[in-house]
Amino acid sequence: MKRIFITGGSGFLGRHLVARLEGAGHTVVAPASRECNLQRADCFAPWRGEKFDVLWHLAAWTQAGDFCLRHPGEQWLHNQQLNTSVLAWWAAEQAQAKLVTIGTSCAYAPDLPLREEHYLEGQPIDSLLTYAMTKRMLCLGLRALEKQYGLRHLTLVPSTLYGPGYHTDGRQLHFIFDLIRKIIRGRTHGEPVVLWGDGTQRRELIHVDDFVGTALRLADGVDNETVNLGCGTEHPIREFAALICAHVGYDPAKIIYDAGRYVGAKSKCLEIGKLRRLLPDFAPLPLERGLPAVIDWMRASGLAAAPSTPQ
Ligand SMILES: NC(=O)c1ccc[n+]([C@@H]2O[C@H](COP(=O)([O-])OP(=O)(O)OC[C@H]3O[C@@H](n4cnc5c(N)ncnc54)[C@H](OP(=O)(O)O)[C@@H]3O)[C@@H](O)[C@H]2O)c1
Repeated sequence: MKRIFITGGSGFLGRHLVARLEGAGHTVVAPASRECNLQRADCFAPWRGEKFDVLWHLAAWTQAGDFCLRHPGEQWLHNQQLNTSVLAWWAAEQAQAKLVTIGTSCAYAPDLPLREEHYLEGQPIDSLLTYAMTKRMLCLGLRALEKQYGLRHLTLVPSTLYGPGYHTDGRQLHFIFDLIRKIIRGRTHGEPVVLWGDGTQRRELIHVDDFVGTALRLADGVDNETVNLGCGTEHPIREFAALICAHVGYDPAKIIYDAGRYVGAKSKCLEIGKLRRLLPDFAPLPLERGLPAVIDWMRASGLAAAPSTPQ
């Protein structure tokens, strides 16, 4: 059994990771930001003298929708501070541990294949540039510390995660949760369902349980690599909407597409050849099987009770 430290353990992905690791019998330390604020230089003081086998660095300050567009300066400072805190602690006090970090598909330049060797090349899209570059800087930091001190690390780059247990605190939602909420409210409150863009923009999802299970396998066996972790297939927003409508009982023909609104990248699909070479039996849950439980969770969570935030 391992001793594992997790930053961002109170987040969406973090809660699923913590549950899985604890369920497997590992000792997990996963402080929330109020117990370990990574913007503070002394944040790891409570664990001085303790040694961990694996550090999972999940913490990041971001949200979906146009959040990055509206907070580039704060995002730069916040994410650089928290990444630097973790890298410094790893190098100074946890050099025996492997550091697993989470990247972002936004770090890829849209005109290059979304393949690992291009993660640090070209220009990410402008609206997500600051967030993307802080993730690239984290990756460079890992490589620099590996080079100088021989430390072990792994960067996992997810597509958008979905699953039950998303935040219900009123923040901007990732597109899939926002879609579900709007369609549930269209059905239950008769609200018009207005989706941003013309519906042809394509997105890729991975179920959070698939991500966690696969990430744990990769963390066990793969050192000093960047690995994309998505399903490798994307779908137009209209297709997601049709699946949700079928489960909720809403007529997809009633959906209004607002082509004048911000939609981000037109297409974003990770190439997962490397993942398939590392784990040939990787078989992610198909959307048709993953979505219904998330829709049912959203109904029960009350998340669809509040009107949609614009996104
Ligand atoms: N969700 C996705 O679809 C997705 C896709 C690609 C990449 N990622 C990456 O995956 C990771 C996890 O994502 P997520 O969706 O689980 O994020 P999340 O739900 O927003 O959670 C963010 C976590 O970061 C912590 N955090 C923020 N500022 C902190 C600070 N100053 N000190 C300590 N902790 C701080 C938060 O702690 P508190 O809540 O305690 O403040 C929270 O636990 C992130 O690195 C994200 O960039 C996520």
